[in-house]
Amino acid sequence: MSNLQIIEKISQMQEIGKSWNETIGFVPTMGYLHQGHLSLVKAAKKECDIVVVSIYVNPTQFSPNEDLNTYPRDFEKDLKLLSDLEVDYVFFPSNSEMYPDGYKTWVMVDEITEMLCGKSRPTHFRGVTTIVSKLMNIVNPDYMYMGEKDFQQVTVLKQMVRDLNFKTEIRECSIVREDDGLAMSSRNKNIKTEDREKALCLNKALKLAQKLFDEGITDATVIIKKITELINDSNAVPDYIEIVDHTTLKTTEKAYSGCRILLAVFVGKIRLIDNAKLI
Ligand code: PAJ
Repeated sequence: MSNLQIIEKISQMQEIGKSWNETIGFVPTMGYLHQGHLSLVKAAKKECDIVVVSIYVNPTQFSPNEDLNTYPRDFEKDLKLLSDLEVDYVFFPSNSEMYPDGYKTWVMVDEITEMLCGKSRPTHFRGVTTIVSKLMNIVNPDYMYMGEKDFQQVTVLKQMVRDLNFKTEIRECSIVREDDGLAMSSRNKNIKTEDREKALCLNKALKLAQKLFDEGITDATVIIKKITELINDSNAVPDYIEIVDHTTLKTTEKAYSGCRILLAVFVGKIRLIDNAKLI
């Protein structure tokens, strides 16, 4: 029998946290859990005495024209998956708990939030940094587990943790993919059946970039051009394709071993992201 406890109130979560002398691992999520999320939970279980997972679809990281209302949810299934992994606590707050009337405070990270996803989603990272700050203050974890799937997000949060002296250490976990190479994402559920094949173009594009790099092509413009062709030929629409330095996220003209290629692509109406390190 699992001892998973569901906590809905901030005060209760904070009270529980006070009594802990053990190592606390925390996995923030927006639910509709898949093996990518569960890989973070497993990493936390390995390293920590107590594991807390939050499930909260944070409205402030969606802009009005985005998919907040259609974001997939299945709380009962999530609970089952988490209790099978022997997670200790699920923090599951309501919107009025997280953003009560009169809420006014935002956490913002400069520069690295303005590029890549920040260009087409200008208020997104402000929502992410704000909610993750709140969650860290509520759960008070030693370690927070995050996926490289959202490479810009984890880079921004590492910057925030450093700049604001949070005591939490971020642990980065690698991208978990479906057998056909599509990076797992809760949003994959909303891809139309007829578009599913098109979605493979993200991973194919990353593989092509590595192949070109292996062949000695380092000119980022050339690599990006070839990838754009591949994506267009798949009837998907690139939002951005960039080759960047893995710490500053600034674009680089020449690809080098250790730089990162990041993509956002519209497959039908669904915007998907993926990335890889060029090695
Ligand atoms: P969500 O998209 O639910 O993702 C929660 C965590 O799971 C993130 O750290 C994300 O990078 C990781 N993740 C998602 N897909 C993955 C995959 N295929 N492989 C490995 N890790 C994966 O990211 C968010 O929620 C939110 O922005 C959040 C941080 C919870 C703030 O609201």
